[in-house]
This record gives sequence, structure tokens and C-alpha cells, in this order.
Amino acid sequence: MIATLDGAGTGADGRSGSINGPADHRVFDVLRSLADVVVVGAGTVRAEGYGDLSVRRDLRAARAARGQHADPELAVVTRSGSVPDELLDAAVPPLVVTAADGDAVAALRRRIGADRVVAVGTGDVDLGGALAALAARGLPRVLTEGGPRLLGDLLAADLVDDLCLTTAPLVVGGPARRVVDRGGWLAPPAAARCAHLLHGDGVLLGRWLLDGPRSGALD
Ligand SMILES: NC(=O)c1ccc[n+]([C@@H]2O[C@H](COP(=O)([O-])OP(=O)(O)OC[C@H]3O[C@@H](n4cnc5c(N)ncnc54)[C@H](OP(=O)(O)O)[C@@H]3O)[C@@H](O)[C@H]2O)c1
Repeated sequence: MIATLDGAGTGADGRSGSINGPADHRVFDVLRSLADVVVVGAGTVRAEGYGDLSVRRDLRAARAARGQHADPELAVVTRSGSVPDELLDAAVPPLVVTAADGDAVAALRRRIGADRVVAVGTGDVDLGGALAALAARGLPRVLTEGGPRLLGDLLAADLVDDLCLTTAPLVVGGPARRVVDRGGWLAPPAAARCAHLLHGDGVLLGRWLLDGPRSGALD
């Protein structure tokens, strides 16, 4: 995730692309190269446009040495099933994670194949069940790229153990959302320990460990 000095998760255009830069892109590429699957909320996919997750050439050998597939899978989390056509119609569509009783399940199965639909939970997606289902498919190493709503839900369910947060040297003001935003407080808050803070090109690159399970939930 990336935030400006004043805590904004996007610039004025409503995208994170307008607040990031080369240093953040390098971290982004490395994190993707470590993952078996990149899990993203449908809001981010609709706002940012998602497609090619190809791992950078110089990161491929390490990935192969770990026994991972050449590139990570993309998994889109959605209640509504509203995932951009260009993704659903791609030669290899993303995995779509949705609630088992949702209106979208049957149509998604017809469109992209039942094996590409991970349907868990009733009403809401059961995110813990979804991660277990991905692990059962051979995808245990999960990177989520947010967005704010999905990250909030994952934190509330105690499913985040590692938060990589870039601080962009910008102040944007405006009504932008923060990088965690699902409408309620985390109670108790998730406590983090600093694993590292790197400084490059005026950008602060942090990695934070969220160790302990929280006992509470969001209100
Ligand atoms: N600064 C950063 O690092 C960063 C990173 C990522 C995104 N962003 C920005 O964040 C904005 C998007 O925010 P957002 O909160 O809408 O993003 P989001 O969390 O990616 O998407 C929210 C949508 O994802 C689905 N979803 C999330 N949690 C779910 C759950 N537990 N169960 C079922 N579906 C779930 C729902 O999709 P449906 O509506 O389809 O049901 C929900 O409306 C964009 O402006 C993007 O640029 C910033």
C-alpha cells in the first residue's frame, strides 16, 4: 500500500498511480514476485485497471528456485460479480472470489468456468475460507494489493501478518480515503512492529509485522 504524508491513499484522480513512483514500483515488483496469488478487491480492479502480472525477468530465477509458477495468479474479491469484461474475457481469466450464495456465482461459473470461481461464505465472502481455498489450490503465499475496503476486512479477520507501506513525499489534501477504510474502527487496533524502514529517492519504504491475533472485530 502507499499513502501520502497526509495519509491519502490516492491522488486527486482517485488512483494510487498518481502518488507512487519508481522506488515504490520496485517494491511492488518484488512483492508480486514473491506471491503465488495477488488478491485484490473489485473496487481497486475497477479503478486501477488490472491485467498482466508477469514477473520481472530478473526476479524469475529466484521464483523458480522456490518452486513457484512463472507468474502469480490474480484473484479478484467481489460481492457483486462486477469485474471488468477485459479480465473475464481474457484467455486465462482471474480467479474470482465471491460469496457462495451471491447473485453472481452462477453467471460467473458459466462465464469463466467453475474452476475459476472460489465461492465461500454466505452474505459476505468468508475471507479466511477463501485463503484456505487458495492454499488448497497450491497458492499459499498471498499478496493483497488492497484496496482500502478489502484490507480493512482482512485486518478485521486477523488475516494480515505483514504490511508493506510506502510513504510518498507528497501532501495532497482533498477528500482521499486512507489505505484502510471500511467504515468502522478496528477494536482493538492492530499493533505492528517495524521490520524495516528504507529510504530511497525521498520515499520511505516500510515493512511492518502484525503478529498477534486481535481478539476483537470491527464495530
Ligand atoms: N494507496 C494504495 O496503496 C491503494 C491500493 C489499492 C487501491 N487504492 C485505491 O482505493 C480505491 C478503491 O477502494 P475500495 O475500497 O473500493 O477498494 P477495494 O477494497 O479493492 O474494493 C472494494 C470492493 O471489493 C469487494 N470486496 C471487498 N471486500 C470484500 C469482502 N470482504 N467480501 C466481498 N467483496 C469484497 C467489493 O466488490 P463489489 O463492489 O464488486 O461487490 C467491494 O465493493 C481506488 O481509488 C484505488 O485507487 C489505493
